[in-house]
Order: sequence, then C-alpha cells, then structure tokens
Amino acid sequence: MSDLKAYLKDQQVLVDDALNQFLPRVTVRPKTVHQGMRYSIFAGGKRLRPILTLAAAEACGGEMKNALPPACSVEIMHTYSLVHDDLPCMDDDDLRRGRPTSHKVYGEGMAVLIGDALLTEAFTILAETPPTKRYDLKDILLEFSICGGSRKLIGGQVLDLEGEGKELSKAQLVRIHENKTAALLTTSLRLGGMTANATPRQLDALTAFGYNLGLAFQVIDDILDVTQSTAQLGKTAGKDEAVEKATYPSILGLDKSKNEAARLTRKALEALAVFGRKGKRLEEIAHYLLDREF
Ligand code: IPE
Ligand code: IPE
Ligand code: MG
Ligand code: MG
Ligand code: MG
Repeated sequence: MSDLKAYLKDQQVLVDDALNQFLPRVTVRPKTVHQGMRYSIFAGGKRLRPILTLAAAEACGGEMKNALPPACSVEIMHTYSLVHDDLPCMDDDDLRRGRPTSHKVYGEGMAVLIGDALLTEAFTILAETPPTKRYDLKDILLEFSICGGSRKLIGGQVLDLEGEGKELSKAQLVRIHENKTAALLTTSLRLGGMTANATPRQLDALTAFGYNLGLAFQVIDDILDVTQSTAQLGKTAGKDEAVEKATYPSILGLDKSKNEAARLTRKALEALAVFGRKGKRLEEIAHYLLDREF
C-alpha cells in the first residue's frame, strides 16, 4: 500500500471511531431515526471532508484530537445533504455509497427526518470543539452554520434544481459548484485550521486551496457520472444526463472538463506554498482527488 493510501485508511478509521462515539446509539428511542442516521453514515464514503479537516489542522501545527469534533460535524452535514439530495423530489436516486438510499429503506418521510436529525446532530457535536486563542466557539459555529445555510450549500442546491433542463453559462455553473460543493470543502479545511489556532494568512491559504479543490472536485464528480459504472461509483451512473443537469461535461465536453479539473487542482496547489513541508498531505490529497475513479 502506498504511503498516502495507508494514511487515508488510518484517517478513515479515526473518523469512523469518533463518529461512532458521537452519534446516538441505535438503542436510543425512537430507534428508527438513530438506526437510519447510522445506516447512511456508516455506508462507506471516502470521508474526504473530515480528512481535510484533520490534514488542515496538521498543516497548521495543531493536534488531531482537537480537530475530531468538527471533522465529524462536516461529514455528518455532508451525509445529511446526500440523504436529501437523493430524495425523489430532488435527484431521485436509489443507490448511494453502494447501498439503497435512505428513503428506499426507511420511506420518504423518515428519510427527510433522518436528514434533519443528522444536520442537527452535527451542531451538537461541533459544540465539543475546543476554542483557541484566535477562534472562539462563536467563530466556529458561524463558519459551519453559514456554510450549510441558504447562502452556500443549500443555495447551491437551489440553483442546481432550478438549472435542470436549462442551458446555463459556465459562470452560472461555477456559482452552483462554489456553493453546493466548494463551500463545505473550504469550511472543512478552515475548521481544521481554526482548531490549530491558524494565523490569518494560513486561514486564507486554506480558503483558496478549498475553493479551487472544491470546484475541481465537483467537475470530477460530473465527469465520473459520465465515464464510470454504477458499480464503480456506488451511485447511479449517467444520472445527470438523464435529468438534464447542467454539468461541465454537458457544457464543455469531457476533454475540456478534464483540463479544467487539472487547472483548478494546480491553482489549489499554489495556495499551499505558505505551509512548506507541513502542507504535504494536503498536496497529496489534491493529486489523489484529481485521479480518483469514484
Ligand atoms: C458526493 O460527494 C457529492 C458531491 C458533492 C459531489 P463524495 O464523492 O465525497 O461522496 P462520499 O462521501 O464519498 O460518498
Ligand atoms: C451533490 O451534487 C451536492 C450535494 C449533496 C450538496 P450531486 O447531486 O452531483 O451529488 P451526487 O452525484 O448525487 O453524489
Ligand atoms: Mg444533486
Ligand atoms: Mg445527486
Ligand atoms: Mg454528481
């Protein structure tokens, strides 16, 4: 196993252990909702966002254990967004992380509530984050709540739904990606930095890195939807074209989309200069995400 693969595996185990500790047990009543929360969280998933939180903390010289609460919160917010994204009234997907989607197992009403419960739980866990000299709990809370709200993640999902069946410009598409995807990647990194008492310069670098990495990440997600199989993705392939989603491949074609993902990754990497050798993991993760197959 390469050093990076081993590192990613170790971080996944760390994050999964922490998620298991933080989330309500399945025996807590009402059991259905707690089972459903764990069903979607522990279905697999790359754990990219929490790994970014931990790697950002490391890059800023912080301790991993202080970054674990926000790492779990960003993964839980991400998972809630997927549970809702898959609902029949949104992207209408049957498969997620290689398993039937939440609403297929628990029913639509329950899947809405499971998503709501995940989002709310994410804040309960975030409250465990130790404040630092530069960042108090209010800074941490606002970073997270603004990212998940109607100005960013939800706003991006709104534009994504409104864009279905329409011919959007590249600029309009970038706005969707900035909000529905790049915002949470950026916040994942910034929260890691905050737990490490990052300097304003370090936090700016994480922001620029996250923005470009996040845009690249969604371009690649759109490419993989066209080029990969359902089995490989663990979610239904070819879905974007079927519902006429505005995507990079549909606007620019596959080759130009791949070039764009590489260009954005290069831009992301430029932002890491301030970290010197400490930014090595973030750099490796960016390369890995560009070459990923699912
Ligand atoms: C999928 O995210 C949704 C997007 C924002 C593109 P991931 O590809 O990180 O999904 P998991 O967490 O690995 O399942
Ligand atoms: C999802 O984008 C973004 C969020 C859930 C916020 P997609 O709709 O492209 O994600 P997948 O392809 O279903 O994972
Ligand atoms: Mg969607
Ligand atoms: Mg979707
Ligand atoms: Mg997609």
